[in-house]
Amino acid sequence: MRMIDLIEKKRDGQPLSNSEIRFFINGFTTGDIPDYQVSALLMAIYFQGMNRAETVNLTLAMAESGDMLDLSDITDYAVDKHSSGGVGDKTSLIVLPLVASFGVPIAKMSGRGLGFTGGTLDKLESISGYKANLSEAEFRRIVRETGIALAGQSKSLAPADGKIYALRDVTATVASLPLIASSIMSKKLAAGAGGIVLDVKAGRGSFMKTPDEARTLATAMVRIGLDAGRDMVALLSDMNQPLGVAVGNALEVAEAVMTLQGRGPDDIHEHCVEIAAHMLRLAGRGDVRTDLAETRREVDRALRSGGAYEYFCRMVAAHGGDLRQVEDLSRLPQARLRYSLPARQAGSVAVIQADKAAWAALALGAGKATKADVIDHAVGIEVHANVGDEVAAGDRLMTVHANDEGRLQAALELLTGAVQYSAQPVPRLPLFHGLVDGQEM
Ligand code: URA
Repeated sequence: MRMIDLIEKKRDGQPLSNSEIRFFINGFTTGDIPDYQVSALLMAIYFQGMNRAETVNLTLAMAESGDMLDLSDITDYAVDKHSSGGVGDKTSLIVLPLVASFGVPIAKMSGRGLGFTGGTLDKLESISGYKANLSEAEFRRIVRETGIALAGQSKSLAPADGKIYALRDVTATVASLPLIASSIMSKKLAAGAGGIVLDVKAGRGSFMKTPDEARTLATAMVRIGLDAGRDMVALLSDMNQPLGVAVGNALEVAEAVMTLQGRGPDDIHEHCVEIAAHMLRLAGRGDVRTDLAETRREVDRALRSGGAYEYFCRMVAAHGGDLRQVEDLSRLPQARLRYSLPARQAGSVAVIQADKAAWAALALGAGKATKADVIDHAVGIEVHANVGDEVAAGDRLMTVHANDEGRLQAALELLTGAVQYSAQPVPRLPLFHGLVDGQEM
């Protein structure tokens, strides 16, 4: 087999066979096929796309390019979740302990920030001592002993995806549906879950800008999972305004802890209840004899009861994190400067641009603009209003937490104009735009 023939075939719009896909993935993983040929193939895929069988074969080849985690000694059915990335999205910090509190073991490998979206591990590392990079043996021991571990993705998980993603990043081939879907799903399939709930975001604060685009991506990922023998549900969630109040690492940990104690903002509480209810139904927990609405009620009661908070504390302690910072949130990293941003005028809040809030948080130092940057866990933004709220001129809209005057100014410039008002009442944004599951496939 020759790589040049594969490139030519895809360039001319013909599908690649499973053995051709395996040849290219294995050859690239071992270093036998050079970057320039893979770049050419990726560009051909970008323009010609891939059919359902090709996309599944590509995903499985990438998943099997490294270790496939076998969790059967821990549980006979593992559930996982994945968010396509949003602004203020601290869902994993809440949902995973919540699901674990129902007796479902959680062995979760998570990522770091990508583009303007924050990463779960960066958030957790706001807690002093939290060790996200674990050996597989440590990871398994923590799940067995505490029922939940939330760690960094091991380097041996889907290594082909890591290499291909790095090439896509520099060859303008990131924004390809089969490449995005196979990249995300290869890591999920390798991570050992039997059931996967996808939280696919739609809106100005996510990669997919409209519910239709999000549905297309969700459908591609659900198909891959089903064809690979997994149980799948994808929820399409709104990401036009930040989720919850906090955007920034320590601020988001604090909000997650408050939500786990039953005193979080309504939107993040409801969002987490929905995701957890679907995870529990896949795992066959909760009262599955009744309808989803009853499972939701059960999960809602559990989240208000504080039981999930206990699991979060156990997880933090098992990962070496300083529990005193969880018990007393004022001990989490605090920024030196706080700036209150008032509403410019009275009216209904019509737009809060989540992307601008995310860029402002990055400008403050909450994420990395270059590989060499060091994350400042203390900085970020609290957005005190939601679309649809009535405000008076001068009401506090946002609080900006900064450690540097220059960065504060840069963030304020980005935030100016991020909020728009209307003289007419504005409806609230929905939390979800629908769901994709096996029924439609
Ligand atoms: N996240 C991933 O892991 N891969 C993509 O291609 C896009 C988002």
